Amino acid sequence: MPEQVNVGLIGCGAMGSELARAVLKGDAGSARIVGLFDEYHPSRESLAAELGAGAEEVPTTVNTVTELVNLPNLDLVVECASQAAVVAHAETVLSAGKSLLVMSSGAMISPDFMKTVSTAAQRSGASIYIPSGAVGGIDALRASRALLEEVTIVSTKKPISLSGAPGFADWENKEITEPTVIYEGSATDAVGLFPANVNVAATVSLAGIGPDATRVRVVADPDSPGNVHEINAVSKAGKFSFRFENMPHETNPKTSFLAVLAAIETLRSICDPGLRIGT
Ligand SMILES: NC(=O)c1ccc[n+]([C@@H]2O[C@H](COP(=O)([O-])OP(=O)(O)OC[C@H]3O[C@@H](n4cnc5c(N)ncnc54)[C@H](O)[C@@H]3O)[C@@H](O)[C@H]2O)c1
Repeated sequence: MPEQVNVGLIGCGAMGSELARAVLKGDAGSARIVGLFDEYHPSRESLAAELGAGAEEVPTTVNTVTELVNLPNLDLVVECASQAAVVAHAETVLSAGKSLLVMSSGAMISPDFMKTVSTAAQRSGASIYIPSGAVGGIDALRASRALLEEVTIVSTKKPISLSGAPGFADWENKEITEPTVIYEGSATDAVGLFPANVNVAATVSLAGIGPDATRVRVVADPDSPGNVHEINAVSKAGKFSFRFENMPHETNPKTSFLAVLAAIETLRSICDPGLRIGT
């Protein structure tokens, strides 16, 4: 990567805004936000105004991802939008030779889509980065993937954090007073039913034994201490258990604050040469 990494952002919501503020503060090394795209115009305009206030430069807001990748000297695109945004724009970004950091990792579990974007990246020499997101242990799962026999992830959230998901439709008007299993099945089916909630399951499955074999349980619990993810894996290299009790992001309770930190750290590690720990 060049000395200064020029970043275009897709998605100016909770995560994108927080990441952009961190970049402005210098928390992501040499990264600099140069372009903003969001299908909801007010979000990108207000973030541009916030980032530009008192700064030397105001990031350019654009109407299309084609405009974004054509910004002068753009190096990398960070997606903090939705699975739909990844499906719609990943190929455009990668074919233009720009690397892509994907937060809506659920989009990547379709084998056909993964093949399309991987081919686009290989042809142009771009990279695709999927941060660990709202969990840890992804490095251990990745390192032992050939030896993994079983991987399960249980995600427990307050009902409000599941509201709006197609998989929660039957529960929207019911009172949930105790821990209730809302879904049990493969990661493949989970990402369609809970698109904004189980990117973690997608990332775990992509790192490990794949989306069909990764077992997912989604639990609604009014007394959940936050967005809780418990991962258990059995492998020939050992048994691994990880538990994360995440604080929800204050403006979007579906998103864990840790996921924002993981995006910032991945961006920092892309930008900065030198020491790498845990990757
Ligand atoms: N990998 C992980 O562990 C992890 C964890 C938390 C959240 N996420 C995902 O990260 C993404 C961002 O989360 P957030 O909390 O910032 O969401 P958010 O709803 O606060 O913001 C998303 C923004 O993206 C915009 N957007 C959505 N679809 C778009 C499209 N097709 N084109 C352009 N703009 C689009 C929206 O207008 C909105 O401003 C979500 O998909 C979320 O599920 C991933």
